[in-house]
Amino acid sequence: MKIEFVAPGAPAAPSGAAAVLVFEGAALSGPAAALDQASGGALNRAINATGFTGAKGRTLDIVAPPGLDLARVLLVGAGPREGFDAQAAETAAAEAYQALKTSGAKTLTLGLDDLPAAFAARAAMGVRLASYRFDRYRTKEKPEKKPSIEAVRISVGEVAAAQAADQPTKAVADAVTFARDLVSEPANVLYPAEFARRVKALEPMGLTVEVLGKAEMAELGMGSLLGVGQGSARESQLAVIQWKGAADPNAQPIAFVGKGVCFDTGGISLKPADGMEDMKWDMGGAAAVAGLMHALAARKAKVNVVGVLGLVENMPDGNAQRPGDIVTSMSGQTIEVINTDAEGRLVLADALWYCQDRFKPKFMVDLATLTGAIGIALGVDYAGLFSNNDELADKLLAASKASGDALWRLPLPAAYEKQIESAAADVKNVGGRPAGSITAALFIQRFVNGLPWAHLDIASTAWKKPSSVATIPEGATGFGVRLLNQLVADHYEG
Ligand code: BES
Ligand code: MN
Ligand code: ZN
Repeated sequence: MKIEFVAPGAPAAPSGAAAVLVFEGAALSGPAAALDQASGGALNRAINATGFTGAKGRTLDIVAPPGLDLARVLLVGAGPREGFDAQAAETAAAEAYQALKTSGAKTLTLGLDDLPAAFAARAAMGVRLASYRFDRYRTKEKPEKKPSIEAVRISVGEVAAAQAADQPTKAVADAVTFARDLVSEPANVLYPAEFARRVKALEPMGLTVEVLGKAEMAELGMGSLLGVGQGSARESQLAVIQWKGAADPNAQPIAFVGKGVCFDTGGISLKPADGMEDMKWDMGGAAAVAGLMHALAARKAKVNVVGVLGLVENMPDGNAQRPGDIVTSMSGQTIEVINTDAEGRLVLADALWYCQDRFKPKFMVDLATLTGAIGIALGVDYAGLFSNNDELADKLLAASKASGDALWRLPLPAAYEKQIESAAADVKNVGGRPAGSITAALFIQRFVNGLPWAHLDIASTAWKKPSSVATIPEGATGFGVRLLNQLVADHYEG
């Protein structure tokens, strides 16, 4: 999508569309008032004819308005003017794009003439996120079904300031796109080695990427991670990504760890066929961490950050791990594998231990599509947050509010530890039905060696099906990229 910032009053195109904001309970103002006047009052006539109030989430499409060189004018409900902030500008722009994307219009001019430059940059973000599409494998889609809009022009008072504000914002949008592409790829294309290759390909951005294979991981004693992948024809990988943006390249880093199960059949504890295809998305945590590293490199963030991705495929075959197997993790703790479908925590156990052992980071945050239970607890709009550190948890909650990637904190009660006690090993990998997301987090906590740590269970937020959010088309959401970028930007740079 081509997006440019233009000065107010730039010429329109006859096949183009314009979108303007209408504030609730107020007369038309700014570019809306100007278009109303130029069309001899067509906007106000349409408003009076339909009872359009400017309420948030509503739009009114006016086709071929008289006297204007435009195919359409879309009125976008912006809610009351007092509450209209940068976030609202992002949403309004995304809604305008969604309302017009298949209208036949090739260009969309978004009139934000009288709004601050930062709002215009966020509007660009909204359009970039809303126009995401994964259509690589659609060879027969009819042209009229594809979005017609090829370019979006955002008219704004301070063009240069908007362009400057757009640079870091665009870096984050590109990173979300990178993460969404990874999540969207099917598992026959994106298996562990291919995921690692795509991350390795980011090195020209200034990242360092090491990829450990089975032999290296066996050498390190990662019996927990390797046990998950042993039934797969695809070799397990650990991708270690470093961004050294701090003035001192040896300054203590912060670290993010992602579950990258490229496909989760459940293994010998096989999942039911119905809906199993969704498990190609079981690498959403690793994709979010890869996306974060992409964003940090693109905007040259002044901070040292490590990203560790545990990349495996969980398959049943003659070599697959069995229920009842006992594996030894890199930490030395033994794990009884009661259910081979509780594989994410087995991957994270070794990835987290490796991360703290090698990098001694200030803290670690892991992201994982870990439990179906988190969706039962929180639904599709919140990811679960678990942490052994209130300060880290509070920073994540603040970043959640600012970025829109919503989190809700859940407890880590010591009393529930008994649910994962094993008679045969140090711990077992499932804790029964009660508080399934919590016992999963308690399991992971045993592998962070006491470091400040947070775990984000993104099982119900990594993709949306269907989607009701204008900035998130159906499918991969890229959840976590904006959240983590916000956390880093707010507290750890400079
Ligand atoms: N990848 C799944 C979790 C999941 C479920 C993600 C639904 C997205 C949607 C995970 O590996 C898993 O299978 N978890 C099990 C754990 C159980 C066996 C203790 C689950 O949630 O059922
Ligand atoms: Mn599973
Ligand atoms: Zn899984």
